[in-house]
Amino acid sequence: MALKNFSQFPLFQSHIDWAHYLWRQVVRQGECVIDATCGNGHDTLILAQLSLEKDQGAVYAMDIQESAIENTKLLLKATLQRDIYQRVRFFQTCHSRFPNEIEDRKIALIVYNLGYLPGSSKELTTQTETSLMSIQNAMMLLKDGGCISITCYPGHAEGEKEEEQVLLLCASLDPQKWSCCHHRWVNRKKSPSLLWIQKESMPKH
Ligand SMILES: C[S@@+](CC[C@H](N)C(=O)[O-])C[C@H]1O[C@@H](n2cnc3c(N)ncnc32)[C@H](O)[C@@H]1O
Repeated sequence: MALKNFSQFPLFQSHIDWAHYLWRQVVRQGECVIDATCGNGHDTLILAQLSLEKDQGAVYAMDIQESAIENTKLLLKATLQRDIYQRVRFFQTCHSRFPNEIEDRKIALIVYNLGYLPGSSKELTTQTETSLMSIQNAMMLLKDGGCISITCYPGHAEGEKEEEQVLLLCASLDPQKWSCCHHRWVNRKKSPSLLWIQKESMPKH
């Protein structure tokens, strides 16, 4: 997102633009990242472009729906070079538990785009309980200074409950160890929002 043209209104379109801008600030080539809700792969593609090199970096793409995993594979295959594409690992599973092979990695960024896939069944939306479990597990995977990006959609009933509970979780975190920030359009009713969590980074002496 380029913030050069100040005549543009609004300056950036949405919570998603804002999230992508922040991802670009924190992810370096060669790092490991997770897309915990890969959907149609748009977010996974950006994460892959930011983190993957020929022989370094890893992207773990998770989704509970087979069609989401397939759509993400199609998009990435069509866009990325073969050796880069091969560094993306796909998991069709609920994100409440992370696959074992991720557990010993130090993760720079974990991304959640909550809710349901536009154009598919609204029944297949993320659920408050499993999202909370997942975010708490994700916090344990982060490297020092690593971040979690969560886009929330309070425009539907489960999304409203989910956002409320995730905010409560964030508000309870020790401020010496976690930095949590919430971005919302204040003059748009039930607008989507972006929650950003960062793990403390030990100063290097
Ligand atoms: C808003 S969409 C994600 C959009 C996606 N990031 C993109 O760029 O296209 C939310 C996704 O979360 C997935 N999902 C729902 N519950 C899940 C769960 N428990 N574990 C993993 N994925 C889940 C849905 O299948 C859906 O694809």
